[in-house]
Amino acid sequence: MPVERIPLSEPWLTHAEQSAVAETIASGWLSTAAPMVDEFETAFVKQLGFNASVSTNCGTSAIWMALAASGIQTGDEVIVPALSFVATVNPVRYVGATPVFADVHEETFGLCPETVEPLITPKTKAIIATHLYGFACDVVGLRALADAHNLILIEDAAEALGTKVNGKPVGSFGRFGAFSFNGNKTLTTGSGGMLVGQNADEMATIKRLATQAKIFTNGELDHFDVGYNTRMSAIPASLGLVQLARFPELLAKRIAIATTYEQAFESWFRGCPPPQNGMIQVPSYWLSTLRLPHPEKRLALLAQLGEAGIEARPIFKPLPLTQAYATTNQSNSVPVAEKLWREHINLPSSGTLTEEQQIKVIDTIKQNW
Ligand SMILES: Cc1ncc(COP(=O)(O)O)c(C=O)c1O
Repeated sequence: MPVERIPLSEPWLTHAEQSAVAETIASGWLSTAAPMVDEFETAFVKQLGFNASVSTNCGTSAIWMALAASGIQTGDEVIVPALSFVATVNPVRYVGATPVFADVHEETFGLCPETVEPLITPKTKAIIATHLYGFACDVVGLRALADAHNLILIEDAAEALGTKVNGKPVGSFGRFGAFSFNGNKTLTTGSGGMLVGQNADEMATIKRLATQAKIFTNGELDHFDVGYNTRMSAIPASLGLVQLARFPELLAKRIAIATTYEQAFESWFRGCPPPQNGMIQVPSYWLSTLRLPHPEKRLALLAQLGEAGIEARPIFKPLPLTQAYATTNQSNSVPVAEKLWREHINLPSSGTLTEEQQIKVIDTIKQNW
């Protein structure tokens, strides 16, 4: 008998998503110009409390569009977290700018003013702050710091749809917020993303920039800039509309999974971080995260879980340690990011996770940690 696989994070789809996609296919209108793409952008903003949005073909493109639209280019520096998924930093290189890695806070797993401020130079143009695994970083402190130095704050909220800070959604604190709807995210469109922003005119320009900067002048097709082709298309948008309507259910399940893990693992589980600078947060627990009592057994434990069909994984390797960024000119060390990396793993957190499966995960970990 093959061992039952318990995935780290798989989509939770119902008949409603299947019907919506089938209807879109039947309509024959599949491009980025189809009406449900606009509909998804409008519904997202309205339901979740943002000002304006542009949907994208993935979360990486959302960050890329924010940087490109801000005019960030060669010679500029962008401060990024040392602990994040690589997609936070790659777009900095796409626009020719230089990423500068800052260490993270031990409680929030994200940037904080104390680690960012010493790295600001006359070349710094922006800060990209990730809300890792659904925990909010100190976005209130970072916003104040960005304003004081006239920097653009971009929130990489790819993993944090549903996380709130002082009652407001993350993604709404910076000039821009980027979300991902990758297949492993709480709300999925297969691949997809959303850029949200404060200024409706600026977002309207980004929407055009993301569709080849296309305009019509005197009835003739023209292009007002060197544009991109990064907007979402119809099938993901129709899937997204259904997932958005189901979002309260999708989010509640991730939080329920985290609560069960917290009861089982007590203080080894990474629950809600304590308030930073008066910032009260409600995390969305995209991936539940466990601190290990014996970090030296981390890789052995992951192998044992793998043999039992349980897909857990190490948390992200600090970016300055990856092959892609090891050569980035970087003199500051990132000890907190390295410590968190060596001590933590992510646990199966899919919306489809059953009670029996979660008990198996908990028991297998407790037998081997
Ligand atoms: C922190 C972070 N930033 C950016 C991305 C990029 O999103 P996507 O995979 O949709 O391009 C992801 C997710 O995959 C992510 O986890």
